[in-house]
Amino acid sequence: MSEEPDNRTTGAEGSAAHLRKARHGMKIGIIGAGNIGGNLTRRLTALGHHVSVANSRGPHTLTALAEETGATPVPVEEAARGAEIVIVAIPVKAVPDLPAGLLDEAADGVAVVDTGNYYPQRDGKIAQIDDEGLTESRWTQRQLDHPVIKAFNGTYAQDILDRPRPAGAPDRLALPVAGDDEAAKRKVRALIDELGFDTVDAGGLDDSWRQQPDTPVYGLRAGIDGVTKALAEAGPERKPELRG
Ligand SMILES: NC(=O)c1ccc[n+]([C@@H]2O[C@H](COP(=O)([O-])OP(=O)(O)OC[C@H]3O[C@@H](n4cnc5c(N)ncnc54)[C@H](OP(=O)(O)O)[C@@H]3O)[C@@H](O)[C@H]2O)c1
Repeated sequence: MSEEPDNRTTGAEGSAAHLRKARHGMKIGIIGAGNIGGNLTRRLTALGHHVSVANSRGPHTLTALAEETGATPVPVEEAARGAEIVIVAIPVKAVPDLPAGLLDEAADGVAVVDTGNYYPQRDGKIAQIDDEGLTESRWTQRQLDHPVIKAFNGTYAQDILDRPRPAGAPDRLALPVAGDDEAAKRKVRALIDELGFDTVDAGGLDDSWRQQPDTPVYGLRAGIDGVTKALAEAGPERKPELRG
């Protein structure tokens, strides 16, 4: 388990600091325990948050991750219960399979993060994205019937473990964050800051094509200036190979 990069406390002092943080930790639901969901589970538990994590096969398949991190494995129906932040980290094609009412028991004002990317070869053709021009996250938002914040979609999962830096570090990476719900966006940006990354406000969901696959910012490892420039340089055309 990696520690926070700027946590220099040790021994009893370190445990006390951890307990203090844990007491103030948020309840976070993570749906998807693969590359991105697994590593977010690792980091968010290390920061003292109370993470419930779900996959498609059930909590009994998540015991190793639970033992490693202290996260609570739950059936997907329970992943959002009481959560202030819910992170959806599953393949786009699986989003319509999520149970109806998934967010009904989440905390008031829950922020829902969409990490997804649409790859037609993997996800099958989604006509509303390909033909009607919906952004990927607007499509996901419609499936979930709840506002989403697009974040982490262009971030290498391994960087979540390897690249956190304290605020102000010259090599701190920045992540673009898009969404229409400003309060939720603020909450998600604060969480990303806590994870050790800067953020750039990439606008509303209808602007979020600027961070979809094959754009200049997708997979870019850069700070605020580089990410801002890359978002501005994006063009709206989808390459034929990214269309279903
Ligand atoms: N890999 C990256 O570096 C990265 C970075 C940024 C964004 N993304 C995007 O984030 C999304 C997830 O990517 P990933 O690489 O983390 O995928 P992954 O490693 O294949 O993991 C997918 C996870 O989703 C779970 N899942 C699938 N269907 C589900 C359902 N109906 N209900 C609950 N859980 C379900 C899977 O559970 P089971 O194993 O039990 O089926 C698995 O835990 C994709 O859209 C991807 O494009 C990936």
